[in-house]
Amino acid sequence: MTDGAFENLLVDRDGAVATITFNRPKVLNALNAATLDELRRAILALKHDDGVRVVILTGSGEKAFVAGADINEIAVQTPAGGREHAMTGQHVLDLIEHMGKPVIAAINGYALGGGCELAMACTIRIAADTAKLGQPEINLGIIPGYAGTQRLTRLVGRGAALELLLTGDQISAGEALRIGLVNRVVTPANLMGEARKLAQTLASKAPIAIRYILDAVHSGLQMSFREAEIHEATLFGLVSATDDMREGTRAFLEKRKPEFKGK
Ligand code: COA
Repeated sequence: MTDGAFENLLVDRDGAVATITFNRPKVLNALNAATLDELRRAILALKHDDGVRVVILTGSGEKAFVAGADINEIAVQTPAGGREHAMTGQHVLDLIEHMGKPVIAAINGYALGGGCELAMACTIRIAADTAKLGQPEINLGIIPGYAGTQRLTRLVGRGAALELLLTGDQISAGEALRIGLVNRVVTPANLMGEARKLAQTLASKAPIAIRYILDAVHSGLQMSFREAEIHEATLFGLVSATDDMREGTRAFLEKRKPEFKGK
């Protein structure tokens, strides 16, 4: 995949780590329909690329990660079009959540509305201390449509989620850390370095075990506790069939670092 394939995204590869940068800085990287479709295509390509083990999402410019869905498009949408728009956004974010590889959101500025929803669909969120997060849809007389009402509630709990959804307030990265909306806060200068360091760590782990952990957590949340336990046990059994399981256990016993191949 080359950058030239996309108008609104930049895609870089550094070994096993791919970085997707939203690149519409003039509109604070707002997600229009074209960008959402490019993101869908980029995620699918990286999902099926065995050389890629971790993906980082970030925004171009200093101001924004993604400042939401493109309000120019929302302003003219019809009821049927609005429903379709939400379903498409939900589908693309679900693809991210279920791509089977960790996706790190490196939140370099505003992550509002669809931008906050996008960050929440990622596996781990690292924010610059200058970032602002929130679900300001209520201020436009609308509601979140990329599953923000659901992911926010699951991530920070009903009380904090309802306050953010109903006030539309932007919160600081520090406050987002306090309520569990982001995992870490770093200085802007350290943001990409921290994201890459974490990506390298995750890229060194056994890819099939990573995929199963993601599956156990994400699929498990849709199941009863007992069903989720059974699903976990099945994945625990399946992972025993991998070369990586043999390598990991052998390396431990031989007191050396394991080298995982994703097989
Ligand atoms: N959709 C479309 N355009 C957007 C946008 C969005 N979600 N967010 C920002 N922009 C555009 C602005 O219209 C402006 O365009 P212009 O230069 O042609 O006037 C440009 O990006 C810069 O934004 P601006 O508002 O001038 O920057 P600011 O620093 O004063 O404010 C924000 C930054 C993020 C607080 C403000 O842009 C904002 O509230 N954006 C909308 C956030 C939102 O409601 N998102 C949810 C959408 S469902």
